[in-house]
Amino acid sequence: MSNILEVKDLNITFDTYAGKVQAIRGVSFDLKKGETLAIVGESGSGKSVTTRSIMQLLSLNANIEEGQILFNGQDLVQTSEKDMQKIRGKKIAMIFQDPMTSLNPTMTIGKQIAEPLRLHQKLNKDKAHDRALELLELVGLPDAEKRMKQYPHQFSGGQRQRVVIAIALACNPDILIADEPTTALDVTIQAQILELMKELQEKINTSIIFITHDLGVVANVADRVAVMYAGKFVEVGSVDEVFYNPQHPYTWGLLASMPTLETSNSLYAIPGTPPDLLDPPKGDAFAPRNEFAMKIDTELEPPMFKVSETHYAATWLLHEDAPAIDPPAEIKARQKLYKEKYAALHSKGGNL
Ligand SMILES: Nc1ncnc2c1ncn2[C@@H]1O[C@H](COP(=O)(O)OP(=O)(O)O)[C@@H](O)[C@H]1O
Ligand SMILES: [Mg+2]
Repeated sequence: MSNILEVKDLNITFDTYAGKVQAIRGVSFDLKKGETLAIVGESGSGKSVTTRSIMQLLSLNANIEEGQILFNGQDLVQTSEKDMQKIRGKKIAMIFQDPMTSLNPTMTIGKQIAEPLRLHQKLNKDKAHDRALELLELVGLPDAEKRMKQYPHQFSGGQRQRVVIAIALACNPDILIADEPTTALDVTIQAQILELMKELQEKINTSIIFITHDLGVVANVADRVAVMYAGKFVEVGSVDEVFYNPQHPYTWGLLASMPTLETSNSLYAIPGTPPDLLDPPKGDAFAPRNEFAMKIDTELEPPMFKVSETHYAATWLLHEDAPAIDPPAEIKARQKLYKEKYAALHSKGGNL
């Protein structure tokens, strides 16, 4: 599969009164045509900044210090705002946690979907109307003809997110970025929206970057997972590799803190807090929270060690001289539970 997006050694800082926040510290990844990549990590790890930089939607105090963001070979870091406007919302579309921020409360839904089609795709009124209807049906909103004439407040939270997805898909984007699209929704609706995204991906083959702080929702939507910690990718691999054979102690912690079907509350919390990005630590930023940390972890940043052709992790535990360490029993038990749940999902054809 060819890459639609290649991010290379991205470094982003923010100027603040307290100093320079080193928000993104050397992030590299690629996105293949038609795949879903999930980016997972605690709040503040840099997920939103990474994706907002792809859209060139960073705040004014942000600096891209280094790096390239190649979209079909074109470096978006070097692209002018005028040219970005031809990409943003058309070739790369984004949806956010709160659908209300993307909808205009004073305009009918039909108009909000049709207007960009008339503007960007130069469709006439009737064609734009027909396409809007088609899109509403695609995202699973029945009575589309009637709903087109309604306003956002007449839709529930989940329905609004469906509308936002319809708008995002209107111009057939190459990449859809979804930044915690289900976080504000209740659990049942969350599952429906995730299911919709999965269906859409199969139907229209858009590449998707799916951001979440909840590892639990990843397995059913993503092909690959990137785990982010303190402005870096610390583990990247296929869903199976990251869930069944995790290598980074932070990924172990995330897996262990995942609520299961049996326990709606997680039993485990990763001890400690993420580092201050005004002054990130010298070695492995996770070391102070890592019960398996070695001396080298406080001295030198670990490189990305190769686990397989598709699986990499940045932990000194993968160095050939490191002692062999098994994930703690608690985490293994969690993995076992997860494995059973995951197998059950797959046998049902991947439905939640
Ligand atoms: N406008 C800003 N000014 C200063 N710091 C910021 C700004 N936006 C984000 N940051 C910092 O960048 C880091 C990453 O933030 P973000 O990408 O929003 O995290 P996530 O989406 O993973 O929760 C955090 O430490 C955050 O405080
Ligand atoms: Mg965020």
